[in-house]
Amino acid sequence: MEIDAIAGDIIQATTDAILVGIYEQQLLEGEISKLDTALGGVISQLVQSGGIQGKLNELTVVHSLGKLPVGWIAILGLGKKEQLTPDRIRGAVGEACRNLVKRRVTTLTVLPPGADSGKMERTTVAQTISEGAILGLYKFGRHKTREGESGELKRLTMLGTTENVLSETRRGGDQGKIIAEAVNLARDLVNEPANYMTPTILAEKAREITQSHHMEITILEQEQVRALGMGAFLGVAQGSQQPLKFIVMRYFGRDTREIDLALIGKGITFDSGGISIKPSEGMGDMKGDMAGGAAVIAAMRTIAELKHRINVIGIIAATENLPSGTALKPGDVIKAMNGKTIEIITTDAEGRLTLADAISYARKEKAKAIIDIATLTGAMQVALGNICTGAFGNNQALMDKVLKAGEQAGEYIWQMPMFEEYKEQNKSDVADIKNSGGRPAGSITAAQFLAEFAEDTPWVHLDIAGTSDTDKEKGYQVKGATGVPVRTLINLAKALAPS
Ligand code: BES
Ligand code: MN
Ligand code: ZN
Repeated sequence: MEIDAIAGDIIQATTDAILVGIYEQQLLEGEISKLDTALGGVISQLVQSGGIQGKLNELTVVHSLGKLPVGWIAILGLGKKEQLTPDRIRGAVGEACRNLVKRRVTTLTVLPPGADSGKMERTTVAQTISEGAILGLYKFGRHKTREGESGELKRLTMLGTTENVLSETRRGGDQGKIIAEAVNLARDLVNEPANYMTPTILAEKAREITQSHHMEITILEQEQVRALGMGAFLGVAQGSQQPLKFIVMRYFGRDTREIDLALIGKGITFDSGGISIKPSEGMGDMKGDMAGGAAVIAAMRTIAELKHRINVIGIIAATENLPSGTALKPGDVIKAMNGKTIEIITTDAEGRLTLADAISYARKEKAKAIIDIATLTGAMQVALGNICTGAFGNNQALMDKVLKAGEQAGEYIWQMPMFEEYKEQNKSDVADIKNSGGRPAGSITAAQFLAEFAEDTPWVHLDIAGTSDTDKEKGYQVKGATGVPVRTLINLAKALAPS
């Protein structure tokens, strides 16, 4: 989708449709009253009769019937003016765009709500309109052989009144497009069936992106992984026929080789559970067990595109988790890269094994901060549902930055407790640690396991098991992968850039 901003009169717009916002109890004045007049008063009549109330996400679509060059006029409720937030704009615009595309709208003019709306800056308003449209219209149709019935929004034009407003609107629109397309890239990688998203294919995607965005990449093969002593990652991969890939993307946004931040994404391209096999119902969803890795790839691309002044490495230990004659077994003991031995209680707790070695690698690279993102535990979904991501860490200053980055992105993140006492559950009789602490507080004990490998490096773990996909179409989210927490990671890289 093309996003642009032009100066012009709403009355003269020649696109298929116009989208204007209306607040609760708003007086019709300015641009919207011009439209009303041109349409013979239909908007004001609807407002008077209560047909248009301005409630959040309420959409009223009327046809100009030749009174204006444009076809449809869509009036979008924005709720109470003082309650408008960037995320409300994203959601309302996403839903409105889906509605209009069903009406065969291919070009749309949007009149952004004024700068007084909810104390947001104009750039933010424009950015969130652009994000809402691109995210809300996302579709994953690659494997449908017949062209979908559905149309496509090709161009979204925002109107600016003055030169100043125009340049802010354009800047916000462009920024929103870059960010939303990154989220959609992550969604694409996650939605892809596991036979089309093997570790090899995931590594190739990462390679393409680094090559087109002036980043470096190293992809370690099994022998190199063995030489580094990554017995935990190797253990998970040994059941699969697909070769493992240890992917390291490197972006240098400043003139040193110091690594300011390591982003580590869980990269299980399919999680059957291994020998501790999962029930077959819903197992197909486990094609999305590389959502953390996808978020890292998408965030890395965007950090490079936006040229943030920070050095970041992105690490993904990619493999399948499958049962076979060579697979890891419950009771096995393996040795991780940092020398710690791990007793396997269940082969379905594979994510923490791959992450353990990825974290050790980041520490060996002397990363100053580590964020890992993982669809790690079903228990996370039980604790926080599908609404927010759980955050765990060993450093409150870094945690606060992550929470703030999430808040700015409109991606809910909730900090979880990390009391020492939880470590008890991970104690093994035969090894240094075991890979499952049982059912109680399953997400916390998983995080405590990772903490053993992060050691004294500032580290935050984001468990996205509940938030990485959705079965509902709502606001700017559509069924399937959500692309969470790509927008948070992009904000975080900016916030962590040394000044
Ligand atoms: N990938 C799963 C976690 C998951 C579950 C993600 C549901 C998304 C939706 C993970 O590898 C897993 O299987 N975890 C186990 C851990 C347990 C065996 C200690 C779980 O949560 O059941
Ligand atoms: Mn598992
Ligand atoms: Zn898993």
